[in-house]
Amino acid sequence: MLYENSSTLLENLSTAILLFDADKRLISINPAGEDLLSTSRRAICGQSIDELFIDFPLSEALTEAIKAGQPFTERDVELHMSSEHRIVVDCAITPFSENSQSNGVIFECINVDRNRRITREEGIMARHQATSALIRGMAHEIKNPLGGLRGAAQLLERELPTDELKEYTGIIISEADRLRKLIDRILGPSDAPILRPTNIHEILEHIRTLVDAEASNKINFHRDYDPSLPEIRCDRDQLIQALLNIVRNAIQSVGNQGNITLKTRAERQFTISNQRHKLVVRIDVIDDGPGILKELRETIFYPMVTGRAEGTGLGLSIAQTLIHRHHGFLDFDSSPNRTIFTTWLPLEADS
Ligand SMILES: Nc1ncnc2c1ncn2[C@@H]1O[C@H](COP(=O)(O)OP(=O)(O)O)[C@@H](O)[C@H]1O
Ligand SMILES: [Mg+2]
Repeated sequence: MLYENSSTLLENLSTAILLFDADKRLISINPAGEDLLSTSRRAICGQSIDELFIDFPLSEALTEAIKAGQPFTERDVELHMSSEHRIVVDCAITPFSENSQSNGVIFECINVDRNRRITREEGIMARHQATSALIRGMAHEIKNPLGGLRGAAQLLERELPTDELKEYTGIIISEADRLRKLIDRILGPSDAPILRPTNIHEILEHIRTLVDAEASNKINFHRDYDPSLPEIRCDRDQLIQALLNIVRNAIQSVGNQGNITLKTRAERQFTISNQRHKLVVRIDVIDDGPGILKELRETIFYPMVTGRAEGTGLGLSIAQTLIHRHHGFLDFDSSPNRTIFTTWLPLEADS
């Protein structure tokens, strides 16, 4: 009974637990550990820690800990599973022994990337919601008198004796219309999403054909799709608009010549807006342009923030709003020659 309880505990812990023997070979790993390393216990059990991680930074310290029976903790340890797959963890290493003979170590790790990402996400979402509320309030205050202004100009127009004078009321009306359209664009689409099962790759392919005509033929599109992804429940038009805004930015960023990659993956046990999802779809739009201007990085999702003379600064703000309506999240990581905009969408989007 006691054994059953402790195995239930291990299976359900959100902390990754790896058990190594005295020769630093993996004996056991819990599901949180499999998630952290994106692998299965069958694939890695029996491997030594130096096979498991490239350039494992704590290899010697681990040997010492096993010998001396001394536990230790370490923050911000980089684990490289492959050249592409790197995570940063805080870890605790505890040697265990039976009959005074060393049997190995328990290696506990917490993904700090995940915690950092969640903190960052909360900041971005809080700011986004605060600015959206402010803008909605202001838009309302502007639209009402604007309607009155336009109506009065129309009435006045009817009373005016000459076409020459009507030109002036015409200007008032067309400028009021322009302002109203601008406000509507800033507010973004107001329709609630209509969720239908949708193939995300079909959406990405559609976007590719849409932008093919606008992009120079020296821009190469690459596809790196995970074909095993299930369909997601989403509003196709809204998701196309969100991703199109992101892909258009990538095209503008690379200019005449460059590479844009559309990549999809599944991620397990992923938290968005305080909700943990078993499975989320991750969509990366990667470009090899010069990267996002430093001064824009903090405010890039705000409306009217733009780095381009002819830009409106609405693309990313609208994309974030639309993705958030699907209970998802949009973020970026940018350095020269590699900018990634990542969209996460939970599979159970209507929950
Ligand atoms: N892939 C990218 N690479 C570099 N900068 C980008 C990228 N995507 C967006 N940006 C920057 O973010 C700004 C805001 O983008 P967006 O909200 O779409 O508005 P707009 O495209 O109208 O400027 C852009 O003007 C650009 O400076
Ligand atoms: Mg844009």
